Amino acid sequence: MKKVAIFASGSGSNAENIARYFNDNEHLNIECIYSNKPDAYVIERAKKLGIDTMVFDREMFYHSNKVLDDLRQREVDIVILAGFLWLIPGYLIRNFKIVNIHPALLPKYGGKGMYGNRVHKAVVDNGEKYSGITIHYVNEKYDEGKIIFQAKCEILPDDSPEDVAKKVHKLEYEHFPKVIEQLVLNS
Ligand code: GRF
Repeated sequence: MKKVAIFASGSGSNAENIARYFNDNEHLNIECIYSNKPDAYVIERAKKLGIDTMVFDREMFYHSNKVLDDLRQREVDIVILAGFLWLIPGYLIRNFKIVNIHPALLPKYGGKGMYGNRVHKAVVDNGEKYSGITIHYVNEKYDEGKIIFQAKCEILPDDSPEDVAKKVHKLEYEHFPKVIEQLVLNS
């Protein structure tokens, strides 16, 4: 059984979609959902789904071994970032395979501060004809790790950032679980 940890800071609709996709999977289990925000909706979703949670603050995450110890104790094979906003510290990158989803076609519209609606607004403001998703490995810089998978959606002239967000979320729900499945089960 391969063990997956999910890190999320916000609503967690991707985390839930991934958990539902792997519900009852014989080869892969979602072990725990980690968050830096005690009041993030992802925590409620995890509880409803019966998945363990761990919440940490900056001190714990950047200056202690608590998260590392927990991941090791659970024998986690891969860490998935699904809307996790803090930079991943070196000790996690050195010890785990870590994969992120970004709601645009990297290398465009990435980097510090480029998250959520800010990304979609920038894409619309620049008159882009396409946006999409990028699933990539995580290194010590925001959104710069090796790209694993991308999928595109078309942007119509009248689309608002919210319209783009909907199209991008649809791509995320469709592709992220399948890419995780391939990464985990073919390794
Ligand atoms: C997603 O668009 C994902 O690409 C990103 O943050 C958003 C999280 O949404 N990096 P949710 O919390 O999964 O609903």
